[in-house]
Amino acid sequence: MTRPTLTQSSGPAHSRILGLGAVRGENVVTNDDVAGPIDSSDEWIRQRTGIVTRRRARADQDVLDLAEAAGRAAIADAGLVGADIDAVILSTVTYFHQTPAGAAVLADRLGATPAAAYDISAACAGYTYGIGQADALVRSGAARNVLVIGAEKMSDFIDPTDRSISFLLGDGAGAVVVGPSDTPGIGPTVWGSDGAQAQAIRQTASWKDAIENGEPWPTLRQEGPTVFKWAAWQMAPVAAKAIAAAGLTPDDVDVFVPHQANMRIIDQLIKQLKLPEHVVVGRDIADTGNTSAASIPLAIERLKREGTASSGDLALQIGFGAGLVYAAQVVVLP
Ligand SMILES: CC(C)(COP(=O)(O)OP(=O)(O)OC[C@H]1O[C@@H](n2cnc3c(N)ncnc32)[C@H](O)[C@@H]1OP(=O)(O)O)[C@@H](O)C(=O)NCCC(=O)NCCS
Repeated sequence: MTRPTLTQSSGPAHSRILGLGAVRGENVVTNDDVAGPIDSSDEWIRQRTGIVTRRRARADQDVLDLAEAAGRAAIADAGLVGADIDAVILSTVTYFHQTPAGAAVLADRLGATPAAAYDISAACAGYTYGIGQADALVRSGAARNVLVIGAEKMSDFIDPTDRSISFLLGDGAGAVVVGPSDTPGIGPTVWGSDGAQAQAIRQTASWKDAIENGEPWPTLRQEGPTVFKWAAWQMAPVAAKAIAAAGLTPDDVDVFVPHQANMRIIDQLIKQLKLPEHVVVGRDIADTGNTSAASIPLAIERLKREGTASSGDLALQIGFGAGLVYAAQVVVLP
C-alpha cells in the first residue's frame, strides 16, 4: 500500500512591514522624579545613560491596553481591518497572566478572531524575534497578515529603590503588520541566546518562591556593567551579520534602530559597525526610556514622525536583553 503524499504550505516569495502604530505611557517622569530613592542625580543619569525623561502609563492601564492601542493604529496604518489579521504575536514580559496568552485576548479586542495568537517571552529582543517569526509565517503560507506587537508596562515590575535598572525603564507599545509583498521587505533574521548569562537580567524571585516564602513582589534586577559590555561588544557582530545576510554593506543602511537600552551602547555599536555619517539613528531613549520589547518600533515611529526616516528606507534593527537573547534584521520601513 502506498501512502498518500502530504501537501505542505507555501506562500509568497516576499514579505514586508505594511503599517506601524505606537503609544507611549502618558506620564512624563523626569530624572529628578526617580533619583531620590536611588541616591542618584539628573546629571549622573544623563551622562551614564542619555535618558532625560521616561514615559510611564497611568495606573488604570495595563500592558494589554497599551498593546491594543498600538495594534489598532498599526492595522489602520496598513489600510486593513481586524478581520484581515490571521496571526497575532504579542512580545511582552510584563503581562500578569501565565495563561491564556495576552495575544488571544488582544485578537478578540481587535476583531481579529479567529487569528492564531500567542505570546513571545524574549524581553528586549521580543520585537525583532516577532518580526523574524512573522516573516517566516507569511512566506511559508501559514498566515497572510501578521500583527506583531511589542508592549511593556515595565513600571509594574520596578522597585523604585533599585539602582541597577528601575530608573531606566518606561512603558509603551509598538506594533506592525507584516504581510505579503512583491519585493523583498524583511532581510534574514540573525538571532540567538546565551542562557549561561540568565542571571545578568532577572526577576528578583520566581513567583513560586515569592508566594511561598512571602517575599516582596518580584521586580527586575540587572548586573549593569556585565550587560553593558555584552551589548556594546557582542551585539555589533550580530548586527554586521544581519547586514551581510541581507546582501548589503553598512553604506547601504539608511536608518539604525538598536534596542533603546543606553545611549552609550548605541554610540558604541555605531562605532564598531562603522556606520557612515548619513545613517539616521534612533535615539528615542532620551525621552521615552527603555521600554523593552516596545523600544524599537517606538524609536522608528519617532523618526518617521519627525521626518528623519521615510517609507522605503532600509533600517537595521537589533534587539537584545534578558535571556540573554538577541535578534537583528534589516527591514524596509513602511
Ligand atoms: C546600569 C548602567 C547605566 C550603570 O552604569 P555604569 O556606568 O555601568 O555604572 P557602574 O555600575 O559601573 O557604576 C559606576 C559608579 O556609579 C555608581 N552608580 C551605579 N548605579 C548608579 C545609579 N543608578 N545612580 C548613581 N550612581 C550609580 C556606582 O556605585 C559606581 O560608583 P563608584 O565609581 O563610586 O564605585 C549601565 O551599566 C547600563 O546601562 N547597563 C546596561 C543596561 C541595559 O542595557 N539594560 C537592559 C538590557 S536590555
